[in-house]
Amino acid sequence: MKTLVLANQKGGVGKSAVSTLLSHYIAGRGKRLLAIDLDHQGNFSKPLKLSGRAELSSFSSSAILTGAVEELPEQPFVLIASDRILLGLERQPELHTPFARSFRSFLARVDAQFDLCIVDTNPNPDIRVISALASADFVLSPIQLNQEAMDGVSGLLNHERVGLRKIKSALNPKLNLIGLLPTLVEATPFQRANFVQVIQHYQHLMIPVGQQVGQFAYIPRRSSIAESQASGELLWEMKKSPAREAWKEIEPGLARIFDILMGEEWSYGAAAR
Ligand SMILES: Nc1ncnc2c1ncn2[C@@H]1O[C@H](COP(=O)(O)OP(=O)(O)O)[C@@H](O)[C@H]1O
Ligand SMILES: [Mg+2]
Repeated sequence: MKTLVLANQKGGVGKSAVSTLLSHYIAGRGKRLLAIDLDHQGNFSKPLKLSGRAELSSFSSSAILTGAVEELPEQPFVLIASDRILLGLERQPELHTPFARSFRSFLARVDAQFDLCIVDTNPNPDIRVISALASADFVLSPIQLNQEAMDGVSGLLNHERVGLRKIKSALNPKLNLIGLLPTLVEATPFQRANFVQVIQHYQHLMIPVGQQVGQFAYIPRRSSIAESQASGELLWEMKKSPAREAWKEIEPGLARIFDILMGEEWSYGAAAR
């Protein structure tokens, strides 16, 4: 089992939407998937529950850190939903090391049961995010092309506690950054200018798709994506043509990420290695 963590210290950048889209995509391609929601807001848990595709575990995600886990259902797509207990974990610093250890040993315990584990995280740089990053194989960072995009990427790499460089050097040398995934992308002059700036500085962290140079994976801002998050419907099964068009735009990027997760190929993220 490979573990992918979706992480960015900013809220509202589309982490949970990307986690959901990617989960359905991966399950749809026949892989055994474990979905873990570490954000008490539950924006990954809700659409997966509503979709009816994932089997709910008997315990929620705080139990992974506190070590109170039980057996998982023997199903190909399992969700460990979030809970409010997650909120209190940061306030128990004496238990942080045991929390991170429990998370790691849980992943080891379910290793043979799944092909992939996707962990959606909360924006605050706390012990939940650290535990997930400390045990993951891959991290994917949705970013929004707003004013603070550049600062955001710098924080992602260099934050003193959860920055990827720090995590890699201090806790988890095997962690690989799949890349930056621009989300909520709009064809405005402002976003274009920011996109150019991000590419100029961080091209090596973008996820190339297609045959042409300069094409990178991204997720456009589309109301059908927000609707599918709210209703639990799978984007590509929605009847309306805007949803199908949105899916067409997104699919190549998800396919690329899938190939990276499942294959051995590896060439990105040099700066964070
Ligand atoms: N590509 C998108 N197009 C339109 N709305 C989106 C898109 N991605 C996310 N949203 C909506 O934006 C809000 C924030 O997204 P979310 O995935 O919850 O962000 P995060 O997990 O980073 O806090 C949600 O209401 C979600 O439905
Ligand atoms: Mg979220």
